[in-house]
Amino acid sequence: MTTVLSPIPEQAVLRDATELGALAALVGADESVPLVDGRRVRYANLDYAASAPSLQAVADRVAAALPLYSSVHRGAGYTSQVCTAAYESARRTVAGFVGAREEDVVIFTRNTTDALNLLASTVAAVSAADGVGSVVYLDIEHHANLLPWQAIGGRVVEARETLAETLRALEAELERTPVALLAVTGASNVTGELLPLAVLAELAHRHGARIAVDGAQLVPHRRVDLAATGIDYLAFSGHKLYAPFGSGVLVGRRDWLDAAPPHLAGGGAVRSVSLDGAVWADSPARHEAGTPNVVGALALAAACCAVQELRPEVIVTHEGELLRRLDQGLAEIGATSLRLWAEGTERIAVVTFTVPGFSAELVAQYLSAEHGIGVRDGKFCAHPLLARFDAADGAVRASIGLGSTQVDVDRLISALRQLRVEGPNWTYERQNGYLAPSPDPRALPSWIDPATASAGPSPCAAE
Ligand code: ALA
Repeated sequence: MTTVLSPIPEQAVLRDATELGALAALVGADESVPLVDGRRVRYANLDYAASAPSLQAVADRVAAALPLYSSVHRGAGYTSQVCTAAYESARRTVAGFVGAREEDVVIFTRNTTDALNLLASTVAAVSAADGVGSVVYLDIEHHANLLPWQAIGGRVVEARETLAETLRALEAELERTPVALLAVTGASNVTGELLPLAVLAELAHRHGARIAVDGAQLVPHRRVDLAATGIDYLAFSGHKLYAPFGSGVLVGRRDWLDAAPPHLAGGGAVRSVSLDGAVWADSPARHEAGTPNVVGALALAAACCAVQELRPEVIVTHEGELLRRLDQGLAEIGATSLRLWAEGTERIAVVTFTVPGFSAELVAQYLSAEHGIGVRDGKFCAHPLLARFDAADGAVRASIGLGSTQVDVDRLISALRQLRVEGPNWTYERQNGYLAPSPDPRALPSWIDPATASAGPSPCAAE
């Protein structure tokens, strides 16, 4: 199918293609997927904001480490020593990647949600002991950066019509009563809009508060520097940073983390234990009870190294050009993109939109079943934010990363244009609460037993 979109300036494409091709090879980049009509096409992955594919460099590091896999901090054997050294080295790599201060702690967690829950229990403990105040957060947050604060009595501030008014509303809340922590996203997982982190850090500090940043969406697309921006805590996930091996991190100031009870009580988090109680270790061990995910930590560190090797402007240019093309295409086919603030707010390449006449669920199923294009639909684990928009049944999100191409974006726009003109060519029915192609002749790969597999969107997407 042809496209009427203008081409991306060649110079940018060529420069990016060379550097990205050399440094950012991704596992599965040429994978094909089945369509309901029996054809196979190259998978157009436009769902990086949910989970990004593994960098080849990350998969290679994991493959190299697996023969030496062993326990961390627990074994006398040579392979245990190797894994312990690699695990601690991964911690230092992550610290360097985000510009952590010398005294900051890097705690490996399962993901951003886990990291922010750890921070929330830390803040609750410190606040109960020292009365340092509450937590303030915006209503635009992903549930990971909203529910932990709601659970400990944090105060929510509604984002306003403009970013400047939103900053003023936050400042008013910080002035009202003592605040321990301002918790903000670095980039919205729905609109892609960036928050001015250095400005917010200065604002928080001026009012005696600290700042925590949900970096899940930001870190894969922009350099973050804790020391330079004044961010006190940063949480992010490996699975959005091309390291899908079940790890995330919380990086930040030691004092609160060492004053709080451990995230999990168990082996590795203690100095000593008697039947009357335990003397807890300092961080990071304090919050890493149980056998750590050394493979996940190595993978995350390898991803940090690989992304750090790319010049930041290469990522920004590559993704920015594709974002412009996506914006232009969506506007041409009459889709409405969700934005919090006026044009001009800097964004990562995450665009959430609605298509007139078609439910988000139908659009996402159609793109997958008839075109081999992967997007996410629903409310993106950001229900309060979606409630602000005229998208009661959810919306569709296309998100771009290192492996995304002009062809992927053009295929999306072309498929949406076809949907608007002709409607779907297949039938779709609700099954077990989810819309799905009916019939759906696409076979699962042979290594999955169809009798035990169940398909369908995530619970968040379904609501
Ligand atoms: N938090 C991820 C998303 O926004 C899963 O899709």
